[in-house]
Amino acid sequence: MAVGYASGKVILFGEHAVVYGRPAIAVPVTQVQAQAKVEDAGRGQGITVVARDLGQTYKLSEAAPDDALRPIVVSTLERIGVGLEQDLTITVSSTIPIARGLGSGAAVSTAIVRALLEHFDKWLDSRAISDLVFETEKIHHGTPSGIDNTVIAFEKPVYFVKGGKMEIFWVQRPFLLVIADTGVQSPTKVAVEDVRRAWEREPAKYEELFDDIGTIAEMGRQAIEQGDIEAMGRLMNENQRLLRLLKVSSPELEGLIGVARQGGALGSKLSGAGRGGNMIALVTQETCSRVSMMLRLAGAKDVIVTDVN
Ligand code: MEV
Repeated sequence: MAVGYASGKVILFGEHAVVYGRPAIAVPVTQVQAQAKVEDAGRGQGITVVARDLGQTYKLSEAAPDDALRPIVVSTLERIGVGLEQDLTITVSSTIPIARGLGSGAAVSTAIVRALLEHFDKWLDSRAISDLVFETEKIHHGTPSGIDNTVIAFEKPVYFVKGGKMEIFWVQRPFLLVIADTGVQSPTKVAVEDVRRAWEREPAKYEELFDDIGTIAEMGRQAIEQGDIEAMGRLMNENQRLLRLLKVSSPELEGLIGVARQGGALGSKLSGAGRGGNMIALVTQETCSRVSMMLRLAGAKDVIVTDVN
């Protein structure tokens, strides 16, 4: 049996503006993982998918046209040249909550690619894996920037500009993030489409907001590379102010973001598409448990602490 894993991710700076060519920064979150197992099935069985968390088992050949997993299985088998005439059982499970900004879709796809590669004893580099996953992200999300598949495939902090530039960068001083879930599902596609409509209505205003967010992402990278945690926190707060102006925040997010700051977080913001999903708070060893506890008391559905290094 072959097993592939992939971590979740959070965006530290630059979500949404990254769809419009501005830089963004994201880091992997290893505390949550997607897993895919590939096993041989009996002759003539074809490919069966078992989606554990959804309680679904189905033949890939009979999958609905908008099935979330079919495209990545098909494109991977084609890419590695083994063809679709296979007898396999692919079992997928994940601890990454769906539609909460943690990259669950890209992580599940990445885990499937890795498991298929191992099963067929093939190898692709991180760039090729990221590219395969990006193609499926386009099917699910419309106009994704590509940051999710990149950070998840490379498993490193990335500075990302759509359509090309991707740099793995140096974290001078490890830092702690508390990630708290509003419990509200928010599909990336919907938030991204809403921002696009708003941008079409008021292009000048939105371009300026994207520029400002892009500048924050640049400064955020410098702060991380210099180990200037205080500056990072201020930039997160400023990024959140701009995300609010993009209208992708929500009362639930604002509630948790405010509570984290009251608890002593150096900065806090939504992460990912917004409207729901997760927020992140930059904390120190001293403030970590207090902020985590206050977020739970304020109604966060789940709280994860991750060390970025
Ligand atoms: C989603 O994780 C981040 C967005 O910027 C969309 C994208 O980059 O594709 C909202």
